[in-house]
Amino acid sequence: MVQQEYRFIRRKERLAVYPGSFDPVTNGHIDIIERSLKFIDKLIVSVTHHPTKKPLFSFKERMEMLQGVFRDRKEIVIEYFDGLLVDYLEKKGVFLVIRGLRAVSDFDYEFQMVLTNRRMLPRIETIFLTPKEEYLYLSSSAVKEIARLNGPVERFVPEIVAEKLREKHRS
Ligand code: PNS
Repeated sequence: MVQQEYRFIRRKERLAVYPGSFDPVTNGHIDIIERSLKFIDKLIVSVTHHPTKKPLFSFKERMEMLQGVFRDRKEIVIEYFDGLLVDYLEKKGVFLVIRGLRAVSDFDYEFQMVLTNRRMLPRIETIFLTPKEEYLYLSSSAVKEIARLNGPVERFVPEIVAEKLREKHRS
């Protein structure tokens, strides 16, 4: 009886934001995105600046790569924001954040980010997901280094991204 009543309650869409520099998106990011969609309905992948990293790709290029990878996926939205993550979240009315946690080396930065953001916007909750073992040590920086030295980037990124990396280093 109780179960029957539940069927008529309209479930609200569960939304989350996955912020990052995605310079460029790697198979590790993709793994985190797919994992998050097991428990949320729609993911907003939000490209932004990392305060200390000089990007190889422009915002437009980073977004185009993500859009290419997730073409035809209605549950994945690609956006960009400038400024504080907390301001962006407040503007969107989304308070769930997804982040990937790989090795212990990520922990300090992530912990600081969560706690600082929470001081500014207490409603935020962050869910950390760990990628497949083979992506634990994969990073955009490592991929860029491999590309710069003409290594086999296609093992670590989708073909669209591998091609963009080759293009960058040809010019
Ligand atoms: O993929 P990254 O580079 O590890 O992502 C880090 C990022 C971009 C999510 C973080 O630097 C960020 O949220 N930048 C937006 C500016 C901001 O809110 N800074 C305060 C962090 S405590």
